[in-house]
Amino acid sequence: MLEKLKVALGDHDLATMVAGDNRQIGLVRRDCQDLGISKVTAVADAYHEVKSQQSISGVWCYDNFTERGSNSAGVVKSDAYTVERDCIIWPVNHYLGLNRHPTVVDAASKALQQFGTGCGTSAMSGGHCSLHKQAEKRLASWLGKEAALLFPTGYSANVGAISGLAKGPSCFVLFDRECHASIIDGIKLSGAKFLPFRHNDISDLARKLDRYAGQYENVFVVVESIYSMSGEESRLQAICDLKSQHDFLLFVDEAHSFGLHPERTLCRKLGLTDHVDFVMTTLSKSTAAIGGVVATSHAFKTFVQVEANAYLFQAAIPPADVAAIIAAMDVIEETPHLLQSLWSKVSYMRGKLRDLGLDIGQGTSPIIPVFIRDSDTLLRMGQDMFHEGIFTTSVAYPVVKHSEVRFRFILNESHSYEQIDRTVGLLEKLGRRYGVIT
Ligand SMILES: Cc1ncc(COP(=O)(O)O)c(C=O)c1O
Repeated sequence: MLEKLKVALGDHDLATMVAGDNRQIGLVRRDCQDLGISKVTAVADAYHEVKSQQSISGVWCYDNFTERGSNSAGVVKSDAYTVERDCIIWPVNHYLGLNRHPTVVDAASKALQQFGTGCGTSAMSGGHCSLHKQAEKRLASWLGKEAALLFPTGYSANVGAISGLAKGPSCFVLFDRECHASIIDGIKLSGAKFLPFRHNDISDLARKLDRYAGQYENVFVVVESIYSMSGEESRLQAICDLKSQHDFLLFVDEAHSFGLHPERTLCRKLGLTDHVDFVMTTLSKSTAAIGGVVATSHAFKTFVQVEANAYLFQAAIPPADVAAIIAAMDVIEETPHLLQSLWSKVSYMRGKLRDLGLDIGQGTSPIIPVFIRDSDTLLRMGQDMFHEGIFTTSVAYPVVKHSEVRFRFILNESHSYEQIDRTVGLLEKLGRRYGVIT
């Protein structure tokens, strides 16, 4: 199989594929189809072949797992090959380091004792308990809306709510090209007509609203407040301003800003919540559990309850996770210095990387990209980094264009200044070695 692919793809593509670009497996299926191989058993054999090759060169990354001794460091291992490294851990979104906070752990343990492990059924058929109701009330208030609806994950909140809201051909959805996969999956599942607009390009959005929106009864615009691959802020004010000329419903995913501001969300910080019809967030990041929530008006909450299959037909979020979320919100409210500490570290790390001349984009958030802009260098630097004890995500082609490949560091309050310094020091050394810093 590999030989057949090699002939068809030519050496370069195969080299990249086998060398370890972590999403190249997606290309294999396309390439297999080009070769006339579409039977999934044959495609699965091809995937497995690529995995075997990548495992030998030590770059297969689908099986990596971590045994974290603390929130920010631990042993990184892989099922596919026998490599283990003590690493500083950078791919985790526990922005406030609350997953080991005693108050949070204690609340989850108590709920486990009181309510047991799972819910056994969906929210619609009685899976929720009083903790879920308490959390929905509190989340609605944090998100600045009348009501909120809990889903078991952020992924299913987006898929469920968007596919339920924008159902059918009377609907049209415009979304930022950099939106998360769960948003795009929800849009595709909805059966609505849809178009991406260029990332953060308000003129492109306005042009598309002008050109297409009038043809549909219901128009939705979907964006993230902070984009997960670049850490960039959405141009929320400009998007809300478009509402004075166009009739659309605005859906904002606050996954990477929820809980990180004294106002709790970026929409609230900017005073825009009233212009936003749906505020969504995941609960797996700052609140360090799992779950998703969509906050909106009472009427739209009822609508989503009735229309979202992910609410109707998916087992509810376990009570221990709900208790952890509530406790995490308590801790965030009672410990304002956590936010100050996080933002001080963000400025420190961003400042140091910028001083080195590294390209870290336009963002200001705890998601810090380091643009490498060359796939081969990204791969080699990533391997060296791992061998020297730094574990982070390579955002590689085809997730982004070759010219936009980058590392992504997610800074958490639990990272120490010493860990930041070690990471920046290594990036300086490798950046000079590979000509990224001149
Ligand atoms: C912007 C955004 N939305 C939704 C999700 C899905 O959330 P979860 O992983 O908690 O299901 C993510 C996850 O990373 C995300 O980055």
